[in-house]
Amino acid sequence: MSIQRVKSKWAKTNIMLKSDYLRQHMPSTKLFNPANLKAMLEEHGMVYVKPVNGTFGRGVIRVEKTTSPDPGYRYQIETTVRTYPTFEQLYRQLSRLKRKRPYIVQKGIHLLRHRNRRFDIRVMIQKNPSKVWEATGIIGRLAHPAKIVTNYHSGGTPMALDRLMTDHATPSELAVFENKLKKLGISIAQVLQAKYPNIKEIGVDIAIDGKHHPWILEVNTNPDPFIFRKLPDKSVFRKVYRYAVAYGKYRRRRKSSRRK
Ligand SMILES: Nc1ncnc2c1ncn2[C@@H]1O[C@H](COP(=O)(O)OP(=O)(O)O)[C@@H](O)[C@H]1O
Ligand SMILES: [Mg+2]
Repeated sequence: MSIQRVKSKWAKTNIMLKSDYLRQHMPSTKLFNPANLKAMLEEHGMVYVKPVNGTFGRGVIRVEKTTSPDPGYRYQIETTVRTYPTFEQLYRQLSRLKRKRPYIVQKGIHLLRHRNRRFDIRVMIQKNPSKVWEATGIIGRLAHPAKIVTNYHSGGTPMALDRLMTDHATPSELAVFENKLKKLGISIAQVLQAKYPNIKEIGVDIAIDGKHHPWILEVNTNPDPFIFRKLPDKSVFRKVYRYAVAYGKYRRRRKSSRRK
């Protein structure tokens, strides 16, 4: 049995939205088109525009309505910032960037900061060797100061969450919060598994806002286990890797994948 992967952020979002519990943790998300972009900017002021099938933070654009010095719009991709006085000009430029690829628009979350850099959280959920979903790793990811994404492949720095949360929570508050993230992650795995029975692992990207509410930004079905090597506690990566080997992620020869 091979490990099931699901690329489309839009497909995964729609499945998760059917859960009342998960919905409370999902920023409003729509397909990218002029009407949806306009309405989302009016409602939320800041949105993220992302490729439906993207990875590594590639193609991710942060778009804002601005008031000063003049009313208009601003977007950032990588380290490029552009401003436009009208929505039509903004939209034309974004359409060029996206080319023919499908995109989504998601309510932007104002991420917590550490030393003035944004950070978010990756939570790893895996089927353990007893075939039960388990939260095996949590790690923070600090964005490069000039970027709008936290991905390691886009210059982000993986870092233990307690270091990033020192300004925001006491150790006991953090312990409660981490349990909440684990519960959320396991619930996501269960909901996705009902539709995709052969998923074995998920990596959930979670944003925390100023009220410490966790928001699910996306769910990866082929998460990178090696990020957890950056943690000082080496037992985390060891377990993540051991479970991945147990469900066959690093099996080399096809022959050994035949079980029965
Ligand atoms: N709605 C959002 N609000 C705030 N930041 C976001 C939002 N969506 C994405 N980001 C930032 O962009 C990064 C990449 O977006 P993500 O949806 O995870 O796509 P990818 O598959 O490229 O990793 C996230 O880790 C986060 O730092
Ligand atoms: Mg991501």
